[in-house]
This record gives sequence, C-alpha cells and structure tokens, in this order.
Amino acid sequence: MSLPASRPTPQPGPPSTFAADVRAGLTHAPQKELPSMYLYDEVGSALFEVITVLPEYGVTRAEERLLTRYANEIVDALPADVKVAELGSGSGRKTRRILEALCRKRPTAYCPIEISRTALQLCRRELADIERISIVGYERDYLAGLAEVSRQRKDGERLFVLFLGSTIGNFARLAATRFLRDIRAMLRPGDTLLLGTDLVKPVDTLIAAYDDSIGATAAFNLNLLSRINRELDGDFDLHDFEHVARFNPDVRSVEMHLRAKRHVEAHVGAARLSIELEPGETIWTESSHKYHADEIPAIAADAGFECAHQWVEKEWGFAESLLAVR
Ligand code: AVI
Repeated sequence: MSLPASRPTPQPGPPSTFAADVRAGLTHAPQKELPSMYLYDEVGSALFEVITVLPEYGVTRAEERLLTRYANEIVDALPADVKVAELGSGSGRKTRRILEALCRKRPTAYCPIEISRTALQLCRRELADIERISIVGYERDYLAGLAEVSRQRKDGERLFVLFLGSTIGNFARLAATRFLRDIRAMLRPGDTLLLGTDLVKPVDTLIAAYDDSIGATAAFNLNLLSRINRELDGDFDLHDFEHVARFNPDVRSVEMHLRAKRHVEAHVGAARLSIELEPGETIWTESSHKYHADEIPAIAADAGFECAHQWVEKEWGFAESLLAVR
C-alpha cells in the first residue's frame, strides 16, 4: 500500500491501525516513515510535556506569553455566548488564560477533544479550579470530536474552536489547508477558530529546538521504536538508531528522523514485518512546518475563513490568528 504524500500524519485514521500503519510506513520506498501521531503514547506525551519547558524549545512559552498578554482582547473579539472546543488540549495549561477571561464574562462550557485519555484527565485537573467553567471532555480524534460538539450545541450558541501549539505545522502544507477546510465544514456563520502557528526563524534556532542538549527530543523520537517493541512485538535495538533533526528549506519544515547507525535487521510480529536498514538510512517520523505571519490570511481564505485578527509574538516568533467563518 503506498502512502499519501502528506505522511507522517498528526491525526489518526480508524482505531487499531497501528500495526497496519507501521507496516505501510516501514515498507514505504524510498523513504521509510512512521505517522507522527504515534509519538504520543503515555511515555511520548510525558516527554512532550518536558519538551515544552526546554530552554531551546520556545514554542510553548511564546504562545503562553501571547495568550496571557492578549486574552482579554481575544475574548472581546468573540461573539457573546460561545462554547469552546479545543482540538488537542494536551495538559490544558496554555488555554487557561483564555478560559479565565471568558469565564469572567459569563459561565462557559469547555470541550477538550483528545485521543489521549491521560491528557484529558490532566486537562480536567489543571483547569477545574476556574470559576464558572464546565468541562466536558471528548476522547475522539479532532474532527469526530468537533462534529459531536457542534451537533450538541444549543440554539444561538457559537463555537469558538482552539487549535493551538502550532499542531497545524505537523500537517504537510496542502493537508493543513484541507484540515482547515474540514474544520470549516463543521462550523456555522458566527463561529471562530483561534489558530496558533510557529513562525520561520533562523535555522540554528530551529535545529536546537528539535535536537536539544539534554536529549529529550531524541528520547521522544526514539520512544516510537520502543512503543513498537512494547505494543507490536517488535525487536528494534534502540542503540542502533540516533535522532536527527534537519531543516527542509523547500517546505520550511523541521523534519525528525531516526537514523540507523549500522546495518539493522528488525521484526515487528503484530505487523508480520521484517525490515532491513542500511547504515545511514532513516525513518522519517515528523515534520514541523514553519509559517510567515502574513501567509496565514491567504491560507485561511482558501479554507473558507477570514483572518479577523492576528497577534504576533516577536521574541521567539509565534502568531495567534483569529479566523472567522466567512
Ligand atoms: C506538537 N507539535 C506542535 C510539536 C512541534 O513543535 O512540531 C511536536 C514536537 N516535536 C518535537 N518537538 C516538538
């Protein structure tokens, strides 16, 4: 089975396709690949939380600075009576400021949508102390969860969708626009989407962010092989691989790979798979695309939104764009 060009993907297909996806990705020629969504098992999610506080990884702090500074302004730009749906809430930490600002105005329903049950539990614990908030979590993939939240809204209630953290950057460029269109298809006039995007910056800053000095990102990446060993009866020796982060200027993306240090033979029982890698050959595990702030309005328009406001953090380089349904 050949994979679409948008792989590795950040979003799941139907459940229990891990074995099938591993088989398809590791037999893909000429470049072996694995979908990035599988980086986030319990260990991977915990490692990602560590990444967000690394000195080299400025993405999360930049977004938190933006949301802290402009929470009131963002909330003032929204229609009255919104229900909040967040795609991939993670621990919920970055969303706190927005929810506090909303709940100061009126009681607010917050619907985090997450495929990870652990993340949903963390998120509920992190945000439960906000006064006048009601939290209803959806353990679903983004689009299935959003469809349900949208269906269950009351008459006159507007949806305010959050897609933060630059997760959009983990989609290939065309797939990102397609995904925004899919979101748009579930929304109605008056609904809005707050989109966080990491911005283009010097290559050495980007490489340091994805190949940090204590090896947290390397562990996050290598955990994918360890997950295959644990869940799919694999026999990868992690010492045979090293983490690589490289910048692809053609698409302005940081790519993560796992590179074989020597000739490797491995088996994955549950995927009925035996593979070989030549020394230096890589498995591509993630892409993180970087944007220019002024390209967001055109991408939004292409997906059926109008960019109503944009807030830019200049210290690291991050943009928050408020997109309104056209
Ligand atoms: C979740 N996502 C936005 C992160 C990023 O920056 O692309 C995932 C990540 N991968 C390595 N470091 C962080």
